[in-house]
Amino acid sequence: MPPAPAKGDSEKQRLLNEVEEQVGKCRRCGLRQGCTNVVFGEGNPDAQIVFVGEAPGEEEDRQGRPFVGRAGELLTKQINAMGVQRSDIYIANVCKCRPPGNRAPLADEVEPCREHLLLQLRIIRPKVIITLGNPATHALLNTTVGITRLRGQWQKMPDTDPDLAGIKVMPTFHPAYLLRAYTEDNRRKVWSDLQEVMKEVGLKR
Ligand code: URA
Repeated sequence: MPPAPAKGDSEKQRLLNEVEEQVGKCRRCGLRQGCTNVVFGEGNPDAQIVFVGEAPGEEEDRQGRPFVGRAGELLTKQINAMGVQRSDIYIANVCKCRPPGNRAPLADEVEPCREHLLLQLRIIRPKVIITLGNPATHALLNTTVGITRLRGQWQKMPDTDPDLAGIKVMPTFHPAYLLRAYTEDNRRKVWSDLQEVMKEVGLKR
């Protein structure tokens, strides 16, 4: 896994550092008690693209960095295939603390942490958010429609958050799901979703 990107000294980075400090003190749910590190997120504060996952797994918890386990390796390959590096984009999760045994986070663990994610997104103000799988898609779009139906179709951040309203969202399959169902068809679907994003931000194929 590539080293963590160096933290810049821009105003956006300064604001992100402030939020990170607050998140480090957060005890709004019980997850902090059982995890090793808070996984805040990392990347370019000026990123045009933000990837949003569900919650840290074992390796992420150990290193304090998002997507550095097996799913992270695949995500990194996908990012590189788009013609960019992890340090060009930003990666975060809805939940910043690992749920025990990698279970799915509960609603009362997602809700307070979603607020942290929204703060991050308000600072970065990306052009596109890529939600990876159901939990991230549901948390940001306020929907319960499944990822199989939503993926590949542009969505918008809802009006309930005036600072983010209208930002384009591309839901796609989570890389951990892709690893479990590594079919030609699923890989083609994810690549097609990423190509839509590339077109939107002006990345050449
Ligand atoms: N899965 C996620 O949703 N996030 C990570 O950071 C790692 C695995």
